[in-house]
Amino acid sequence: MIKNICCIGAGYVGGPTMAVIAKKCPHIKVTVVDLNQDRIDAWNNEDLKKLPIYEPGLDEVVQEARGRNLFFSTEVDKAIEEAEMIFISVNTPTKTYGVGKGMAADLKYIELCARQIARVAKEDKIVVEKSTLPVRTAQAIKNILDHTGNGVNFQILSNPEFLAEGTAIEDLFEPDRVLIGGDTTPEGEKAIQQLVDVYANWVAKDNILTTNVWSSELSKLTANAFLAQRVSSINAMSELCEKTGADVNEVAKAIGMDSRIGPKFLKASVGFGGSCFQKDILNLVYIAKTYGLNEVADYWEQVIVMNDHQKRRFAKNIISTLYNTVSGKKIAFLGWAFKKDTNDTRESAAIYVADDLISEQAIISIFDPKVGKEQILLDLNYLETRSGEENNKYVQIESDPYKVAKDSHAIAVLTEWDEFKSYDWQKIYDSMLKPAFVFDGRNLLDKKELEKIGFIYQTIGS
Ligand code: NAD
Ligand code: UGA
Repeated sequence: MIKNICCIGAGYVGGPTMAVIAKKCPHIKVTVVDLNQDRIDAWNNEDLKKLPIYEPGLDEVVQEARGRNLFFSTEVDKAIEEAEMIFISVNTPTKTYGVGKGMAADLKYIELCARQIARVAKEDKIVVEKSTLPVRTAQAIKNILDHTGNGVNFQILSNPEFLAEGTAIEDLFEPDRVLIGGDTTPEGEKAIQQLVDVYANWVAKDNILTTNVWSSELSKLTANAFLAQRVSSINAMSELCEKTGADVNEVAKAIGMDSRIGPKFLKASVGFGGSCFQKDILNLVYIAKTYGLNEVADYWEQVIVMNDHQKRRFAKNIISTLYNTVSGKKIAFLGWAFKKDTNDTRESAAIYVADDLISEQAIISIFDPKVGKEQILLDLNYLETRSGEENNKYVQIESDPYKVAKDSHAIAVLTEWDEFKSYDWQKIYDSMLKPAFVFDGRNLLDKKELEKIGFIYQTIGS
């Protein structure tokens, strides 16, 4: 039975996943390690409001397990040495250089982990891929471990994570399924069983699915591709709705009631964001291309093409509605995170919409309940459309939504935070320039109420 787990990478996946394993398995010591000292310090912060990640319910889980059997540290070697099972949960971003630039997953952090494990391990270990990886990465990890190690045995498992941000704790407590892939040899099967036994502490056996390692790796990319495809499909329909008088919410409801289609992931929006959908589809496209499967690659690439279009056309619509110029106009952004209930902004649609509007010299005034100034400027500067100084000139960041709205020409809703619904919209209207526009990129607000107040209210897909 596994008694000691280490996880390399204390990010959005490693942190919450390991906190839940520690909570549910008090008999297992779980150590989460990272190179980033600030992140580890934040995980160890006495003040649970200062954890590096905002996730509903995460603070309680950390409070219960931290110091008991959950530890956060930068001593990577020590944690590897002590553990029988090592999860790799480091980032696997899209490559920004060399072959596969802009498409392939950058596996340098994964390889560094494999080399470090090989160097440090003096006893047999089970290495678990928790990061999302291209199919057949386990082979590369195995090669590194076997050729640079100290002669000990390694078993590689694939155990992709399916949690969504904002609902990570719920998703981890009650996963639709846990997927574990491994070798079909007796040693491989034994390793799979050891990981099954960890999850079986709280997940029903029927929901723990075991497969060969390649199926497991590819299932993760496939799941994200299918989910993102649904969003792009409904977003494609949203544009057609706008032209035809159909209402995308009604269309989504009507098709979602077909049990073969189902109601989830049919919410039209300003475009999907997040660190994974785009990255994983690009990776899938790249893999298909490397096998010469050009039709497969083109098919999935359209999901991204559609998503880029959706973000762009939202910005374009703001410009054309505001009489074809936003130069010098104040546009208030409600929301910056890529979805509600998270402080994560990676690939958020808000970044791209703001960038397009700033190119038209709009002044963007931003409020997000969980994202601060530093992050917002980092996100904009990362695009390298213009200098940091210039971005700074066009962006105002406030901690009060009413201040953001005051004297603005228009409000754009970029994230579906619940609190936006309960604002005093009459007060907001009174403080704005007229005509007062709302561009609701999340179909969040009450159209009737807003129009009654006097707003010109535009949604996605109606
Ligand atoms: P993240 O960037 O939040 O965290 C990764 C962490 O790994 C960082 O803190 C980084 O400092 C650390 N790290 C990198 N190299 C290291 C090394 N050699 N040694 C020690 N620490 C190192 O990333 P994330 O969002 O947690 O994603 C991790 C993986 O999980 C990715 O492959 C992603 O695709 C996948 N995934 C993410 C989500 C999600 O919701 N974010 C969900 C499912 C799967
Ligand atoms: C997604 C998947 O849902 C997870 O299963 C997966 O583990 C994860 O990616 C990952 O691999 O990183 P996440 O990106 O955290 O999770 O959040 P989602 O709820 O999937 O939302 C992604 C984006 O799509 C958000 O910008 C969201 O606003 C948007 N979306 C989602 C829509 O526009 N419409 C919908 O109907 C659903």
